Amino acid sequence: MKPESAVPVVALDGPAGAGKGTVGRALALRLGWHYLDSGALYRIAALAALRAALDKTQTAAIAALIPGLEIEFRGGEAALDGKDVSRAIRGEGVGAVASAIAAEPAVREALVARQRAFRRPPGLVADGRDMGTVVFADAVLKIFLTASPGERARRRYKQLKEQGIDVTLPRLERELRRRDAQDAGRKVAPLKMAGDAVMLDTDRHAASWAVEQIVARLAEAAKRGGLSMDLEP
Ligand code: CDP
Repeated sequence: MKPESAVPVVALDGPAGAGKGTVGRALALRLGWHYLDSGALYRIAALAALRAALDKTQTAAIAALIPGLEIEFRGGEAALDGKDVSRAIRGEGVGAVASAIAAEPAVREALVARQRAFRRPPGLVADGRDMGTVVFADAVLKIFLTASPGERARRRYKQLKEQGIDVTLPRLERELRRRDAQDAGRKVAPLKMAGDAVMLDTDRHAASWAVEQIVARLAEAAKRGGLSMDLEP
């Protein structure tokens, strides 16, 4: 079997609601690769902390809780200790706690090994904030996916409504802005574009456009790096 580091990774980073999940899942499907929603891990840790009645400032206790959590992803579902939590982790309440605890180095450390374990042949599409800068700094391709704050809020609003989660657009926009500022402003693994990343602005484009852009760049990167990849649709 190939050494883990020989398994190609596409790192997909960017702010909240930029479409990383939609694009990342479609890309993984298209390539036949594994997919990591690293944000879901932070959200599950936040949910576990809330359920354990821990305050978001009790970060040492939260970090200590993480190794014992039984986390599983099957299809599009996320499970915590055997129970489906896909909907429970999606709200902006859990998102805000996730962002608060994600600023704590001990919490990030507790989640890094779990993220790297997703790197399995034939490849991995990894979505998050620090995929290209920290967790998979050797990624074969780094993408920074973005869109304007208004567009990102509208997309997330639609998504949450479809899941039956009650939100208002102005409030959601405020919450996303606050979370982005917190994620970009933290000392450890802040949300920022890696120096060698390609920025894709999806404001006026569908997710399928971003997927095609990424596949084309991946083919170029593979050629440059002498990697053999089957990128046919
Ligand atoms: O889906 P959305 O972009 O709104 O957020 P997410 O990817 O589910 O991530 C939730 C929160 O987890 C983010 O606001 C970050 O604070 C944190 N996170 C992180 O710090 N590092 C990652 N690699 C992924 C998420």
